[in-house]
Amino acid sequence: MTVSSAPGKVYLFGEHAVVYGEPAVPCAIERRATVSVTVRDDDHVRVEASDLSLDGFTVEYAGSTDDRPDVNVPAGLVEAAMGYIDAAVEQARDAADAPDAGFDITVESEIPLGAGLGSSAAVTVAGIDAATRELGTTLPAEAIADRAYHAESAVQKGEASRADTFCSAVGGAVRVEGDDCRRIDAPDLPIVVGFDGGAGDTGELVSGVRALKERYGFAADTVEAIGDIVRTGERLLDSDPEADVDEAARIAEVGDLMNFNHGLLESLGVSSRSLDSMVWAAREAGAHGAKLTGAGGGGCIVALDPTPETLTALRFTPGCEEAFRAELATDGVRRLE
Ligand code: PMV
Repeated sequence: MTVSSAPGKVYLFGEHAVVYGEPAVPCAIERRATVSVTVRDDDHVRVEASDLSLDGFTVEYAGSTDDRPDVNVPAGLVEAAMGYIDAAVEQARDAADAPDAGFDITVESEIPLGAGLGSSAAVTVAGIDAATRELGTTLPAEAIADRAYHAESAVQKGEASRADTFCSAVGGAVRVEGDDCRRIDAPDLPIVVGFDGGAGDTGELVSGVRALKERYGFAADTVEAIGDIVRTGERLLDSDPEADVDEAARIAEVGDLMNFNHGLLESLGVSSRSLDSMVWAAREAGAHGAKLTGAGGGGCIVALDPTPETLTALRFTPGCEEAFRAELATDGVRRLE
């Protein structure tokens, strides 16, 4: 058996605009998806996921992932998650030149599905890494990221950036602009996450922004302004640790930029009442800044607050189901067995 894990992420800045070639800065967090893979002596794929849905599910099928029956797979988000597992299987078969390889796969995840924390990227990255290693091929993290991007793109019909998959594969804070992906230095940020218990449909939200841009030319200015926020934010994060910067002032300015970014995402129509109320609860509790993270529509917000105030306020905010502090994940894909 081969086991890999990969982290989820929050977007400090730049989601949606990244789809149009602007830069984005996601940051990996210590909430992981773990995938265990054992090669079989037939071409069947058997997937067991105990915590991707309320009751868990097991599905087994033969040969190509195109032949997978939908029976046993709960509809909606879990069906979508299975799409990423199928795509990861195909990438591993391709990488190891083993088109008929069969696998027993177990997926465990601490990352809520479709909530803006990069659950699909983490499952895809960990799945490709574990399955390729199980077949005797070990790829560098960048190659796993590239294959995971192609897997996600196939599932999301071309509407995916490299941001989530690269961040999950290499860990830390990263900067992604088109095909140019790299790690950046970032200070230890006091990240707090609020989760409304819901989810957004990434494909639909991305299409909604595209439609708005087609209808109103000036929406393109909003996308560009998000790019400017990212460029300003990354300079701030990446600034020389030797330089004479006041750390608290730097984090406060990152927070201002996150507030600005949330306002622009709101204007693009991707926020929601519960996301806005968590953002405002965080700001009123004294957070340096707060914004939605990921595609939006529902799911999570990210705030910066070194004190316990935001965490406590979120826990009492109607519409917030869970709030937690998230440590930066400095490792991306982790090889456990
Ligand atoms: O909600 P998530 O984690 O799927 O993030 C989506 C981010 C978008 O910029 C909206 C789309 C993308 O692929 O970059």
